[in-house]
Amino acid sequence: MSEYFQKQTSKIQLYRMSVYIKKATSYSRLEHIVFLTDNAKNLPASHFGKKEIDYVKAEFKNKSKIVFINQYNRTVCVVNISGDKKEAHDVVEAYRKAGNDALGRFNKTKAKQVVVVSFIGKPGLSIAFAEGMALGNYQFLKYRKDAAKERNSVRTILIQDESVSRRDAELLQISTNAVYNARNLVNEPQSYLTSEVLAGEFVRLGKEAGFSVTVFDKEKITELRMGGLLAVNKGSIQPPTFTIMEWKSANAKNKKPVVLVGKGVVYDTGGLSLKPTLNSMDYMKSDMAGSAAVGCAMYAVAKAKLPLHVIALVPSTDNRPDGDAYAPGDVITMYDKTTVEVLNTDAEGRMILADALSWAKQYQPQLVMDFATLTGAASAAVGPYGMVCMGKVDKGTVDALKQSGDAVYERLAEFPFWDEYSELIKSDIAELKNVGGSSAGAITAGKFLQHFTDYPWYHFDIAGVGFLHKPDSYRGKNGSGYGVRFIFDYLKKLSQ
Ligand code: BES
Ligand code: ZN
Ligand code: ZN
Repeated sequence: MSEYFQKQTSKIQLYRMSVYIKKATSYSRLEHIVFLTDNAKNLPASHFGKKEIDYVKAEFKNKSKIVFINQYNRTVCVVNISGDKKEAHDVVEAYRKAGNDALGRFNKTKAKQVVVVSFIGKPGLSIAFAEGMALGNYQFLKYRKDAAKERNSVRTILIQDESVSRRDAELLQISTNAVYNARNLVNEPQSYLTSEVLAGEFVRLGKEAGFSVTVFDKEKITELRMGGLLAVNKGSIQPPTFTIMEWKSANAKNKKPVVLVGKGVVYDTGGLSLKPTLNSMDYMKSDMAGSAAVGCAMYAVAKAKLPLHVIALVPSTDNRPDGDAYAPGDVITMYDKTTVEVLNTDAEGRMILADALSWAKQYQPQLVMDFATLTGAASAAVGPYGMVCMGKVDKGTVDALKQSGDAVYERLAEFPFWDEYSELIKSDIAELKNVGGSSAGAITAGKFLQHFTDYPWYHFDIAGVGFLHKPDSYRGKNGSGYGVRFIFDYLKKLSQ
């Protein structure tokens, strides 16, 4: 098994590229530069002519937030985002967005290296600006004939800021690479990214970052009787996989592991409950965005060597309507022996996640978080602006999760999770049915998952954000890598 995946990984390198991020110790008048300031008086006179300084001051008076000056052989950018934003995390986000805006100009002028210099004295803002630049610089060019020509010019971002440590810059590099990896995975079409190839990508990430990866093949999954995963896979000619990733630091702060679970449906046709194409099946290569989030968060955690014990589980298959496909009306015995009446084969995510959640019980986890493009209802409810979430954890944990969501601006929209919703998924002939009817679709999906948990657990429905149909600043368009930065931030704080 492992040999097979080793061979696969050497063959299947994604078209990978990132941007280099480093702390700088000096900067010169020869370099493309960004000055972050809250007062034009702080600008270093040696970098500006008098007319230029007057121009910058006048622009700031006119409420411009970004001013560009074309000098002889370089572009100088001055950023002044005054504190009119309500909350600290809104200000940080404004800096990320400004970073993305500035990036466009630097790529236009074919700049290769940009130095970000901060005169603000508040920590975190130059990092946020650099993050907006770095994430905004992402491109998916694997399938472009003229990739070399189309590639953005900016390759290096240097940060000159006394409040930024080398480690801060390193952590930004790590999280940027993790997000790039996640976006690549989501952008890959199913013609390339089968469940086995997805598992192979996790093996590759594990090797690069130093976490262990075990992949169960169809034989093993059958032996284990993971009925939910096998049922969804019945209509497919590609075998399913179940991937277990583990990072256990020698000085882990947590005695019981944190377990991440990600939906790895590499393509969702709906199965026999077939989806229409337009605005529905056409983007369902992205139905593995949850798995990309957890696998690439593992990459970040291991690269950063966080003193933690973290496990990630990815059940993976495509969902198709072939001759042997599972059908509405079928009763499936799940991995934990719960019986489920399938009334819609398009509610496949909960079927495969349920088996992974049951599997997680053996770890006696401190916390389990699952990430899934689970329901159109979640997407309809909050749109592309956040994650729908619900579950059973203590208030302190919810607060910490929300704080991380705000900090990285992958925000949490907490849904009600009252016991009564469980009534909606009771079956006439089995323990559960896999759909709850027309109301509260995101919540009944969550209630279905809850049935398979016996530990503190929180569910993140990322259906609205895993794949973006319009450019959204530094998040770009298409695969967003949503969830990676959120998980990484939460685990970083947990490890402190
Ligand atoms: N993968 C879809 C959910 C989805 C929809 C993700 C839109 C991203 C964008 C999921 O498997 C699904 O089809 N859910 C059904 C459930 C229903 C049949 C109960 C849905 O939401 O329509
Ligand atoms: Zn579906
Ligand atoms: Zn799906």
